[in-house]
Amino acid sequence: MESFKLDRKLAQLALLQRIELASAIQKKVRKLFGRYLFSKIFSKYTININKISKSYYNIMYSEYLTIKKYLGASQNILSIGAGIGGLEAIINNNFNIKNFFFIERDFISSKVKYGWDNENNEAYNKLNELENFLVSNHVEKSKITIENFDKKNFPQVKFNLITSLYSLDFHYDFETYRDYLSEVSDDKTVLIFDTIRADYFKDIFEDISIIKEDNNTLHKSKRIACRKFKN
Ligand SMILES: C[S@@+](CC[C@H](N)C(=O)[O-])C[C@H]1O[C@@H](n2cnc3c(N)ncnc32)[C@H](O)[C@@H]1O
Repeated sequence: MESFKLDRKLAQLALLQRIELASAIQKKVRKLFGRYLFSKIFSKYTININKISKSYYNIMYSEYLTIKKYLGASQNILSIGAGIGGLEAIINNNFNIKNFFFIERDFISSKVKYGWDNENNEAYNKLNELENFLVSNHVEKSKITIENFDKKNFPQVKFNLITSLYSLDFHYDFETYRDYLSEVSDDKTVLIFDTIRADYFKDIFEDISIIKEDNNTLHKSKRIACRKFKN
């Protein structure tokens, strides 16, 4: 498999979640007509679905390679802000994961912005589309649990791996989830996320390694793998 199965709605969500998928013309259109019209109309009707399916797959495959060494059979994995779930579909093709849990949001902001958001008001997902994507891309429905962040009904499971790519501590404060994550982690749980302040986590975790550095993004973030909450 070298591309994902996407329809127009899923391709639009992938584009909003991964703005690097936008063509040069789409970026110009966004500048010219503004974020509102781009989020509502142009992101949906100016896309080449096949091209997005392939490029989104390639991006998510390279993300998968950054976390591969933390994966193993029979894991319970939690993804925070997974978007439509490309990373998890690829993990599922390569490992016999026990369960995939997701915490995401169920709305698309009217003017999608990509900076740090203290209020955590921005979102660009639909939970039914997340499930639709996963099932269409071969993740068994029985392995999937999806929770809405805004309903605060979070899964109470000890996780082997918790991932949050370009979401937690990239767009909004880690503290939003800190207490919950410490409850659902044990000393072996690995938490992987992209942050703009890696040093901040030296006081929170016993072990931290930097597994990716992004100098081309607006934020110049680092992807860190952390273990063992300090008491
Ligand atoms: C930039 S996208 C990244 C999506 C995906 N991880 C990827 O790498 O393609 C950020 C995602 O975080 C989600 N999000 C925003 N606030 C959230 C929260 N408090 N909890 C969980 N997800 C959140 C958004 O809806 C969006 O899907």
